[in-house]
Amino acid sequence: MAESVIPTGTDGAEPPLDGRIAALRDEARSALSATRDADGLQEWRNRYVGRSGEVTLLLRSVGSLPADERAAFGQAANRLKNELQASFDERESEITSAAGPAGAIDVTLSGRHPIRGRLHPITQTVREITSAFGAMGFQTFEGPEVELERYNFTAMNIPADHPARDMFDTFWLDRVDEDGDRSILLRTHTSPMQARIMESQEPPIRVVIPGRCYRYEATDASHEWHFYQVEVLAVDEGITFADLKGTLYEFARQVFGPECKVRFRCDFFPFVEPGVEMAVNCFNCDGDPACRICRGSGWLEIMGAGMVHPEVLRRAGYDPGRYTGFAAGMGVERVAMLKHGIEDIRHFYANDMRFLSQF
Ligand code: PHE
Repeated sequence: MAESVIPTGTDGAEPPLDGRIAALRDEARSALSATRDADGLQEWRNRYVGRSGEVTLLLRSVGSLPADERAAFGQAANRLKNELQASFDERESEITSAAGPAGAIDVTLSGRHPIRGRLHPITQTVREITSAFGAMGFQTFEGPEVELERYNFTAMNIPADHPARDMFDTFWLDRVDEDGDRSILLRTHTSPMQARIMESQEPPIRVVIPGRCYRYEATDASHEWHFYQVEVLAVDEGITFADLKGTLYEFARQVFGPECKVRFRCDFFPFVEPGVEMAVNCFNCDGDPACRICRGSGWLEIMGAGMVHPEVLRRAGYDPGRYTGFAAGMGVERVAMLKHGIEDIRHFYANDMRFLSQF
């Protein structure tokens, strides 16, 4: 045992202490009075009384002493630990009160900009499309994403053996009706809303219906298994194909700019006759054979359209001898991709802020 003895500061009856304890106590105290700030305090705490601090290690070494010395040494080391902890608390409150009231704000620090939210690019595009039609007198409606087979297919003159009804294109709900038919599905297009609107309203009808659709398809740069469409429907006496062309052309100029050109070509959809596909001129080129966007054609298809099929009007309870109409359905992601030059549809739903915050 070393001879050096430290005063315990309590009463004279305390046993003499090991020199290591005394030395550590002196060292820790002077280090504590040298601390100036919260970092210094933390360092001090780790060094002396923390989990692997020196006082803690000292306490742990008690076991290796001869049995008759353990009790006295252990008590002394414990006392040292308590004493240093008390000194630490005192020093800590000195330092924090010198630093100002707790929680005081440093007004010289520059502020942090709050991140501002914004609308998803698809929501923005839907709104642009519906307001272009709104300016031409079309009202906006919405309808169910979980739809009856009757509206999605039958009312739209899509026969039972049409490939669109195949299980590889449609998400069917796991529900069977009384006839054993699976009759509920996730709508594969917004066209069923044509039938719902016609059933519930009398002509004249001018509506646009934005909404999400689902198709059981593999995803790639231009296909998602869920996507948005905007359906357009106008029904009245005397509506002609010229109305279809004029309205859709005006829409394209509103959304893609006054220089936009459009092209109509024949296409087939069971619920229109005649049916067309509408394309706008490629934003990227002027028919350059090397263009990756339009593959050299100079045109990009954005929607299907046509005159409402007489059978669809009849099923909705309208007299096709009296009323005619036109309908169109466009892919919203497609429109957004063309407007902004985006090459992969999957960006829209990856929730990557680096992409989304550009819009
Ligand atoms: N519903 C069709 C589709 O999803 C688009 C369309 C709508 C075509 C209206 C003609 C008329 O492909």
